[in-house]
Amino acid sequence: MTSINEQPIPAARPVIGEDEIEAAVRVLRSGRVVQGPEVAAFEEGFSRLVDGRHCIAVNSGTSALQLLILALGIGPGDEVIVPSFSFAASANAVRLTGADVVFADIEPGGFGLDPAAVEAAITPRTAAIMPVHLYGHPAAMDRIVPIAERHQIAVVEDACQAHAAALNGTPVGAFGAGGTFSFYPTKNMHSLEGGMVTTADAELARTLRLLRNQGMEQRYANEIVGANMRMTDVSAAIGRVQLAKVEGWTEQRRANAAYFDAGITAPAVTTPPVAEGARHVYHQYTVRIRGDRDAAMARLTEAGVGNAVYYPTPIHRLKPYWEPDQKAGRTWELPETEKAAAEVVSLPVHPSLTRNDLERIVTAVNSLGENL
Ligand SMILES: Cc1ncc(COP(=O)(O)O)c(C=O)c1O
Repeated sequence: MTSINEQPIPAARPVIGEDEIEAAVRVLRSGRVVQGPEVAAFEEGFSRLVDGRHCIAVNSGTSALQLLILALGIGPGDEVIVPSFSFAASANAVRLTGADVVFADIEPGGFGLDPAAVEAAITPRTAAIMPVHLYGHPAAMDRIVPIAERHQIAVVEDACQAHAAALNGTPVGAFGAGGTFSFYPTKNMHSLEGGMVTTADAELARTLRLLRNQGMEQRYANEIVGANMRMTDVSAAIGRVQLAKVEGWTEQRRANAAYFDAGITAPAVTTPPVAEGARHVYHQYTVRIRGDRDAAMARLTEAGVGNAVYYPTPIHRLKPYWEPDQKAGRTWELPETEKAAAEVVSLPVHPSLTRNDLERIVTAVNSLGENL
C-alpha cells in the first residue's frame, strides 16, 4: 500500500526544466525558429556521441528511420529484416517506403535480434537488417554486422531508445550504414519531438539533408523529391541543453539499475541481462515475470510503483501486419518474441528517482515473492 506521505513513483519523468524553457524562449525571441543555427549546433554536438559521424536532425525518430531507408535506395520489391519485439515505428518506417518487412526472432533470454534468426531470414530480396537497441541495450552488432557484410546488405540501426549505449567501446549509431535516434519526451534525452540520423558516409548524409527538405540545398533548386521532416530551432535548442546532461543522467540510470540488480531477489522475477562488452543505458529497466503478470503489475501499482509493458503485442500481431500476412497465408515463427511480450514489465529507472524511491521499488518487487 502507498502510505499517506508517499506519492506514486511514475514509470517515466520527462525533464522540462528552467534550462530547457530558457533555451526555447531565447530561440522564440530571436524570431529564427525553423531549421537554422541551433539545428546545426545540435548536429555537431550529437556527433560526439557517435564517434564523429555525420548527424542529420529531423522531426522524429520515425522520420529518421524512414529517411535513412529511402536514402539507401530501399523501396518496393526489397525486404528489410526487423524484430517483431519492438515499437511499431521500427516496422512502420520500412512499410512507409514501400519495402516489405520480414520479422526475425530475438535471442533467448535477451531482447535484441538473434543473429542466427537474421541469417535464416535472408533472401535474394533482402536489402537491409534493422537491429533495434531495445530498452537501451545494444543488439548483438558484433555478430550481426559480419552477417550483413558477408551478404552485402546494409545495417540500419534503430537506436531510438539507446543514446550513448555501446558495445565493445563502439557507440550505437556508429556500427551500420546509418543509425537513428528519437528525442521523444520520455527518451533518455529529448527535444520535445525530434530525431537524428547518423552515418559515416558523406554522400549518404547529403542525400539525407536533401530528403528532409524537399530535395533542396539551394532554395527552389530542387535536386530530388523530398519531404519536410525538418527539426525546428526551438527543438534543437532544447536538445542541446539535454545533450549536455545526458551523460550524467545515463550514469544515474546505470547506478539505479545496479541497485535493482543487487536488491531484487524475488524468485518469480528475472532482472535484465547485459551482454559481455555492452554498455546498457537503461532507457527501460525491464524484468521478466513468471506467473500472473497482471496480478504482479496490480500489486506494484498498489504499492505506488509505476510499471508498464513495452510491448504487449509483437508487431507481427498488429492489424496492419497481421491482416495482410493472414491474407497471403504467411506466418512467422517467433517463440522468443511471443514469450518476451508475455513476460516483460518495465520499472521506473529514470534519473530523478530518490534513494527512498529505489528502496520502495525493490521492496515492492521482492514482496511479489514466488507465488504469482
Ligand atoms: C524502438 C523505437 N523505434 C522508433 C521510435 C520512433 O521514434 P519517434 O517516436 O521519435 O518517432 C521509437 C520511439 O518512440 C522507438 O522506441
